[in-house]
Amino acid sequence: MRIAVTGASGFCGSHVVRAALAAGHEVLCHGRRPGPAGRHVPWDATAGEPDFTGADAIVHCAAAVADLPRGTGAEAAQHAVNVAGTERLLRAAGDRPLVWVSSASVYDPRADRGSVGEDHPTEAGQLNAYGRTKAAGERLALAAGAVVLRPRAVYGTGDPHLVPRLLERVRRGRLLLPGGDVRLSLTAVQNLADACLSAVGAGRTGDRPWTPVAYNIADARPYRRDEAVRAVLAAHGVTARIHHVPAPLARLAARSGRLPGLTPYAVDQLSRDVVLDLTRARTQGWRPHRDLDAFLRETGAGAARPASRP
Ligand SMILES: NC(=O)c1ccc[n+]([C@@H]2O[C@H](COP(=O)([O-])OP(=O)(O)OC[C@H]3O[C@@H](n4cnc5c(N)ncnc54)[C@H](OP(=O)(O)O)[C@@H]3O)[C@@H](O)[C@H]2O)c1
Repeated sequence: MRIAVTGASGFCGSHVVRAALAAGHEVLCHGRRPGPAGRHVPWDATAGEPDFTGADAIVHCAAAVADLPRGTGAEAAQHAVNVAGTERLLRAAGDRPLVWVSSASVYDPRADRGSVGEDHPTEAGQLNAYGRTKAAGERLALAAGAVVLRPRAVYGTGDPHLVPRLLERVRRGRLLLPGGDVRLSLTAVQNLADACLSAVGAGRTGDRPWTPVAYNIADARPYRRDEAVRAVLAAHGVTARIHHVPAPLARLAARSGRLPGLTPYAVDQLSRDVVLDLTRARTQGWRPHRDLDAFLRETGAGAARPASRP
């Protein structure tokens, strides 16, 4: 197949490109910058429609992903990519199989997320402009018949977000984490790339695109936050003691906006159980095959201890 990948210059998109090539497909990379391989087709999601001529299927990874406050100019900028850009993408995609990479950030944090199914509310409550605009974008994609994938906290080689932010937060041998230990779903980037290809009918689950609804995508089992964090720090050669800050205090500090990087969204994501139920993706024959232990082993630090399961 010839697969068009938007956001191919980014972390997840570049892994989708490499996985598609490894599986014997051709790739077109739609975006402002080229991808790691394949023909570059220039597209700015805030402007025109992408040219999908020759593409058999589309994996849409491009997004404005920063953790920015709602109701500001920042939200308008993210809306231009995540919502208006989606409208342009959908017009150009026609009836090609399309995977729209969303996020578990669309889930309303006011309801319990100890076991989140895809029917968990997504209409309101998101804590930042990213979650709100991703929820609006995926509504359009679902209405147009796309497969929507909702990964959570994607990690792997080339990750510019999760692990770098964690390492930045270590100060004088201490890492402050909001609240007590919790259970969190994480998604190995290989699991996401594999799901993207499978969902357009170009992967290991067969040659039929998945039924066009939303699917949670994550590693097979959730992780204990503190143990996973310790393992990541060790794998990067960072020595730090974890200190638990009471969650109400962390929320107050985040609302004050005085601590860089500590936002209401970050506190929520780190201090409450968020476990994705993978039943629906499994019914398509998909199975997550990578986990954090494998990534940390590859990261190459003998100091890394495997993260245990709850
Ligand atoms: N990383 C995670 O933890 C995570 C978790 C859940 C969901 N996701 C989803 O996964 C997808 C990929 O995220 P990522 O982590 O790979 O982020 P990333 O590394 O920041 O990549 C974002 C991509 O979007 C492209 N993009 C941004 N604005 C654009 C525009 N105006 N026109 C065209 N392309 C534009 C960027 O391309 P250029 O800047 O080169 O143009 C880049 O390739 C997103 O849909 C995100 O919502 C990620």
